[in-house]
Amino acid sequence: MKFIDLFAGLGGFHTGFMNSGYECVFACELEPHLRELYLKNYGIEPHGDITKVDEKAIPEHDVMCAGFPCQPFSLAGKKKGAECPESGKLIDHVIRIAKHHQPKFIVLENVPNVLTIAEGTFWDYMQQSFKKIGYKLEYKVISPVDVGIPQNRKRVFIVGSQLSEESFTWPACNQLDKKTLLDILDEQCDSKPLEHKKVELLAHWQSLLSKIHLGKLSSVSLVAPEFGATYPLDFTNLNLEQMRQYSGAYGVSLAGCKTWDELLALLPSYCRKNKQVANWLEKSVKYSRSVYSKHTSVIDEWSKLLDKENNSWQILEWRGKHFEHDIYQHIVQFRASGIRILKPEIAPSLISMTPTQIPIIPSQNRYISAHEAAKLQNLHELKNLPEGLVKSFKALGNAVNAKIVELIATNLKVWKTI
Ligand SMILES: C[S@@+](CC[C@H](N)C(=O)[O-])C[C@H]1O[C@@H](n2cnc3c(N)ncnc32)[C@H](O)[C@@H]1O
Repeated sequence: MKFIDLFAGLGGFHTGFMNSGYECVFACELEPHLRELYLKNYGIEPHGDITKVDEKAIPEHDVMCAGFPCQPFSLAGKKKGAECPESGKLIDHVIRIAKHHQPKFIVLENVPNVLTIAEGTFWDYMQQSFKKIGYKLEYKVISPVDVGIPQNRKRVFIVGSQLSEESFTWPACNQLDKKTLLDILDEQCDSKPLEHKKVELLAHWQSLLSKIHLGKLSSVSLVAPEFGATYPLDFTNLNLEQMRQYSGAYGVSLAGCKTWDELLALLPSYCRKNKQVANWLEKSVKYSRSVYSKHTSVIDEWSKLLDKENNSWQILEWRGKHFEHDIYQHIVQFRASGIRILKPEIAPSLISMTPTQIPIIPSQNRYISAHEAAKLQNLHELKNLPEGLVKSFKALGNAVNAKIVELIATNLKVWKTI
């Protein structure tokens, strides 16, 4: 069975199909450094821009794979979908090539949002376009964690076939042999150490958690500026005089403030712009104030020594175990909204992360390595990853999970079609 790999990237489709015994006969990828890497890893030099590829120059194949760029469809993106002039229309080139070659199967991958973007019109467009050239599309949303890999990363997998007499059998998604992220860490690896300031910051937060016993912590944040604060959560209708009776961040008195600028500077950064605490933070703000009221003297001492260099360092977003508040048994991610503490079982989705968002193993004072991240995509057997952590994480964050692909490829081999 032969396949082609469109929008090849790091080659998640290639690895998956190759592991299932297929042979790659063509690839295309826009980025020169990824093309170079693909040649080194797989011995095939990908063509460049798909829009310039002549379909007649592509060898015959049984399966066409296309992880078409997801930016125009992701929830974080601009939601332009098919109207996006740059990459939204790239799917038309997939259709053009499929129309000419009529492969037995088409396998596509994207963010699940591709099904609902623009009120589902893009998905309708895809279904209609493929129908016109003889294909019926089926889809399933699958995450690596469903197939035993500790990463949360829901993606929609789409399989198109010509005249199938029965539905495609999707891989079983109830993997019982569940590994945690901590289970897949390398004993020795080339990882970036955690910066000293962050090591100290985590130790400081842990010292607080160890001193105050919080009971059940469930999806709530400890918002340090609220320790001692009494200002109303919505002060849009209050005047300066009324505000002076309250205290701001860390309990500082607002009594002496002569202007709004002076007063706002003493309030937490997250309520300055709209003169109110956003709805999503309200629960955590109230919780933090109640914690402070029970542990005032311990927290006052602790707050004095907290590193307040970044606003986000003053918020601990607890998404970890409900009753075991030991940061060192968790995974940590520094996010713009706060320091996020995550359960160690499952890594957050590898996206094109900024270097600071790379998950941290606090018990080892280090970030996860590119090789460990590659394991989360089942691409760890690649001989070469992009140079440097930033490029590696970007490419891995864009890649399709090769294990899911392999399972789909295997099931395609036994799918009965007319
Ligand atoms: C979502 S990623 C797919 C990654 C791939 N499935 C993998 O496992 O690594 C989309 C890829 O399409 C490439 N791309 C974007 N526009 C392209 C174009 N016009 N022609 C070819 N490749 C393109 C991007 O550089 C990116 O590597």
